[in-house]
Amino acid sequence: MSKVTKKTGASSGNTGTRANFSGKLGFVLATAGSAVGLGNIWRFPYLTAKYGGGMFVLVYILLAFTFGYTMMVSEEAIGRLTQKSPVGAFRHFSGSGGAKFGGWINAVIPMLICPYYSVIGGWVTKYLAEYALGDQKRIAGDSFFPEFISNAASAEIWFLIFAAIVILVILGGVESGVERVSKFMMPVLVILAAVVMIYSITRPGALAGVKYMLVPNLSHFSIMTVVAAMGQMFYSLSIAMGILYTYGSYMKKEVNIESATCQVAIFDSGIAIMAGLMIIPAVFAFYGGAPKVLNAGPSLMFITLPKVFASMGLGRWFGLLFFVLVLFAAVTSAISLAETSASTFQDELGWSRKKACGFMLLIMIVLGSLSSLGYSTLSGVTILGMAILDFFDFLTNSVMMPVAAFMTCLLVVRVAGTRVIEEEVTISSRFRMKKMYNFVIRYLAPVFLVIILISSVLNVFGVIRI
Ligand code: PFF
Repeated sequence: MSKVTKKTGASSGNTGTRANFSGKLGFVLATAGSAVGLGNIWRFPYLTAKYGGGMFVLVYILLAFTFGYTMMVSEEAIGRLTQKSPVGAFRHFSGSGGAKFGGWINAVIPMLICPYYSVIGGWVTKYLAEYALGDQKRIAGDSFFPEFISNAASAEIWFLIFAAIVILVILGGVESGVERVSKFMMPVLVILAAVVMIYSITRPGALAGVKYMLVPNLSHFSIMTVVAAMGQMFYSLSIAMGILYTYGSYMKKEVNIESATCQVAIFDSGIAIMAGLMIIPAVFAFYGGAPKVLNAGPSLMFITLPKVFASMGLGRWFGLLFFVLVLFAAVTSAISLAETSASTFQDELGWSRKKACGFMLLIMIVLGSLSSLGYSTLSGVTILGMAILDFFDFLTNSVMMPVAAFMTCLLVVRVAGTRVIEEEVTISSRFRMKKMYNFVIRYLAPVFLVIILISSVLNVFGVIRI
């Protein structure tokens, strides 16, 4: 621990020896841990169900390995080159107001997301505890979830338990905390995902769901499929939230950036598809794939799935395994959000890791409690017609993240120059995808980002429906 504290203390930039991951595996598992989260297990399956099954999956994969890949390589390479979290990384190239704004918007996003993400993490922890101790018929009842989140004290306690776990991990440091937990949780997560998926696809009637998910049907294609897949890809790959700058700054120079990024994207898409194959076939087996159920959206995981588990043999045990899996996914993502925020405080304010973690915990408690109480004590408070948690989600994902990613494109193309990225990538390997990278970062990404921003804002104001 003292070794780590010394190393991370140095990450304020004083001595030039920054904390880092032990090697490629550590980087890949920690970054995959960040990417694989509630977005994969809860959001991807319901979007896939809603936007045409196999067609959505195909569009998603194409986007992840072009647009997503390009954004990831950019953030990681700049992070590794500058050895800084986003604010310092932008400042490295320019001291102008635009660069300041670009750095800070990337840095503030995880500080706003981590609190509400931990509230949902608290709900997952509560479900896990219920499956471990309780009576699954009760969890499967229609009123269980609404009653739980509208009980202020109970929701708050589970949120605080989850927040405490997250802060304890990052207090341990980069290698002994974040990397060690990811190296344990991510392999277990893959095994659990495989077990639950096999169970789900072997239920009678489930094959129709597998087919729906895997076979692309051209008639399911629409422009909204592309828009929804683009938004999901951002969310899922942890792009535009400062994380990849920070984790890039912890990556050793000998790590091959392109192959590590590819492995993270494969890991992330693989788990998303497995989660789809856990949930959609089970919904087909239980409800015959009724569109109303498939479109249940966010409540699919907390209301529909417990019913599916309750109706099946060994359901309690599979419910338990499923929520362990979701908890691991949520913890490793939340630690990446908290780590990135703490790293900004260390780098920019010269704080010790302890102080940075303490301050992050304070932010989580204040903003997270507002989000959590938004379903009980503060249920009368809405912002733009949204509950507080939904508002933070909208503000970060729909407004700030496309802007933050746009600033990254500007930094690479207009300020730093794509040669700088090329030089950083080629320290450890050839830049195999250089042509695609240059095209996407210059032309495709900026256009796509404007489309994401406009469409998600119009969606919230009810002009279009995503
Ligand atoms: N990429 C992670 C996930 O898919 O859950 C983490 C994450 C996504 C955090 C989106 C926050 C967020 F807004």
